[in-house]
Amino acid sequence: MSSDQAAVSEVTPVQLAVVESVAPHLRHNPYDSYEVLRAAGPFVPGPHDTQLVTGYAQAQAILLDPHWSHAEEPDLLHGDSDVELPGSFLWMEPPDHTRLRGLVGKAFTARTVTGLTERAHTLVEDLLTRILAAGEVDLLEALAYPLPLTLICELLGVPPEAHEQVRLMSAGIARGLDPDLLLSPDELAARTTAVHEFTAFFGDLVRQRREAPRADLISALVQAEEAGVRLTHSELIGTLLILVVAGHETTVNLIGNGVLALIRNPDQFERLRADPELAGPAVDEVLRYDAPVHLTTRTAHAEITVAGRTFAPGDAVIVMMAAANRDPAAFADPDRFDIGRYTPGRKTERHLSFGLGLHYCLGAPLARLEMREVLHAIACRVGRLTLLEEPPYRPNVVVRGMSELRVRVEGL
Ligand code: HEM
Repeated sequence: MSSDQAAVSEVTPVQLAVVESVAPHLRHNPYDSYEVLRAAGPFVPGPHDTQLVTGYAQAQAILLDPHWSHAEEPDLLHGDSDVELPGSFLWMEPPDHTRLRGLVGKAFTARTVTGLTERAHTLVEDLLTRILAAGEVDLLEALAYPLPLTLICELLGVPPEAHEQVRLMSAGIARGLDPDLLLSPDELAARTTAVHEFTAFFGDLVRQRREAPRADLISALVQAEEAGVRLTHSELIGTLLILVVAGHETTVNLIGNGVLALIRNPDQFERLRADPELAGPAVDEVLRYDAPVHLTTRTAHAEITVAGRTFAPGDAVIVMMAAANRDPAAFADPDRFDIGRYTPGRKTERHLSFGLGLHYCLGAPLARLEMREVLHAIACRVGRLTLLEEPPYRPNVVVRGMSELRVRVEGL
């Protein structure tokens, strides 16, 4: 036996699952490897001396404990290259996180989101009319991209002719959120270009709004003030980056994953058609069943014990929310897609797809609103959904999703 063969034969099933959980050719189904990891125990050694966390109870405990910090993620995942991702409060801890999230929260209120309901409804209706007329479409191009992109761009005040440019920059940055060790030199270069373009493009818009404010979120952020303190220019760019990338790429995948789940589970599609009011609970089931954001990282800032293991300050974990959402210790029949799981009155653990604790997703109400409109419109207007070919997946690990979803959509 050669030394190479010996090395291969020494790989354990758990080590193989670690590799397969991020392998590009298995992005359509990382869930089997997640199951192997979860069965191996609460902590499995991952890359960069991290521990992988796939169990619900442990993931929940870590996300809720403020002694675990998110500030080190850029170093942990992107320390191998020299790109500077603009600092966002997603990667900060108190007191900076509290100050910036508070400022953004002032501009991005529940009222802002509620005010978008009618616009989201009209957009979905128009897009669906076009889809029904076309019959066969790539649903990502025809619905999943335009809806969140248009809404977030309109909310921010990006002119319509620049929406496509924002989409391209955002896609380049989204792949760049993956650990650097998984990125090719071309992808790393594309991220650097996208970050520079983003900084220049939004830098211009910020300057314009500073001089002549309008009724948009960029103007509101420029003016937002907390105890006499305003966002600095780089804080503003970092905030816009996270609003655009987190507020767009994620929702695209939520819509795509939801439609795919309905196609693969025709009984659930019929159930939704029979009762379109199930659209609300169905949103949360899609989030649980096929999460758009698969993982996040945390670094211990104190000595912390979780599930009998003591972590020292500086120890890092990769919390795999998409795996925790399928933990049989937390969810009955976790691999079953059941759109009634989150109906009020049914006792179900909350999913971890929007995170938990200090960094709980700021855009969750907006994402829920968009997806509810999509599912409600499909329930009321679509008679049949057929998959035309097995959908290919993008290689992305953190924000996971398809690159195309070719379907036939027939009306009633
Ligand atoms: C389906 C759609 C979405 C999913 C699955 C999602 C998921 C997440 C997750 C998992 C986190 C926490 C990350 C962590 O703890 O490490 C997060 C944070 C965040 N999300 Fe979302 N998100 C979605 C949509 C949105 C939208 C529409 C926006 C805004 C327009 C948004 C803005 C943010 C921001 C600003 C944070 C940082 C919060 C903080 O650090 O305090 N997200 N999101």
